[in-house]
Amino acid sequence: MSSNSLISENTPHLLVLGMGGTIAGLAPNPQENPLQYEAGQVGVDTLVAQVESVVPVGVNLVSRQVANINSRNLTDAHLTSLGLAVREALLDAAVRGIVITHGTDTIEETGLFLQVTCGKLAQSQSKRVILTGAMLPSNAPGADGPSNLLDALRWASTSIDNCPGGIYAVMDGRGCMAMDLSKRHATALNAPLQNAPSSSVGLINPSWLSGVKAVQAVWSEDLPIPREGEWPWVEILTSHAGARPQTITQWLTSAVQGFVLAGSGHGGFHDGWVKPLDEAMAQGIALVRTTRTGAGTTLPNIPELDAPGCRASGSLTAPRARVALQLALNAANLAKKAGKPLTWQDYFARIADLPEIR
Ligand code: SIN
Repeated sequence: MSSNSLISENTPHLLVLGMGGTIAGLAPNPQENPLQYEAGQVGVDTLVAQVESVVPVGVNLVSRQVANINSRNLTDAHLTSLGLAVREALLDAAVRGIVITHGTDTIEETGLFLQVTCGKLAQSQSKRVILTGAMLPSNAPGADGPSNLLDALRWASTSIDNCPGGIYAVMDGRGCMAMDLSKRHATALNAPLQNAPSSSVGLINPSWLSGVKAVQAVWSEDLPIPREGEWPWVEILTSHAGARPQTITQWLTSAVQGFVLAGSGHGGFHDGWVKPLDEAMAQGIALVRTTRTGAGTTLPNIPELDAPGCRASGSLTAPRARVALQLALNAANLAKKAGKPLTWQDYFARIADLPEIR
């Protein structure tokens, strides 16, 4: 752990966990070409040092580097390390709140993962976990990282009327629940919040908070964090014009445990996939359908009746549905060992049926 050497770990503090990303990126020629850079180059202690003098008085900061990567290289093992670090911090009486600096490319997956594995604990401990990142590298003119980090630190430390403990995200002055993130723009400064219902961080408003509370009320129990090496193997397959049966059949000799189908429109897929998908399900491969359109909800038995066992993703995008299916398969494996009659579909439904904030 790299920490502020001036305070002891027992002093109340905010914990900043560094995962890397553009917020920690460096461009060789930031003036001429700020978009050509390497992510995950600057330590989280340096990012924290840049804002330490402007955090609210009395807020102590401790930082810890969990990873320093370009988030397109995020692995299951990184998620395990991050989830365990967040849980440990939520249970640590000295930690008042947690901020995570993360790459925006896969912040969507991490947001859903943390909601499903740590959301209830954050709520019961009344602590906020805030994910943030940046679209410009740390040495670019007008870099957005410092202001995003500062907003996250303020939100994690300030008592905001009625804003419960939970897993949130902030970018470009606006906040949302982390499970609503989805990067839908290549360059916009609020790219991960493009489709998310969000609220200005300084003015968290009552209608938004009622949505947060609806999610908190329904989320009854955190799912287990899979151990490193025990994450189920789940792939995303996109249906498209000219899709071939071989896209499915080539997997049938592998150890893959689940498919998320990013279908067209309502989440339908090419007729050429019907037979091989039946074979996949007969082999025990789990199947979830979602839409490749990037917005809207995928409903059961729309547009056609679903094959028995196949689940619709609700409002989960393909990347979120993939993590949800991994966590659901893992939870069902553990339930089976404990003699509980719960299936992956039971666990998946808990995630997919969370209310949307709109
Ligand atoms: C990354 O996801 O690590 C790079 C892109 C970004 O942070 O915006």
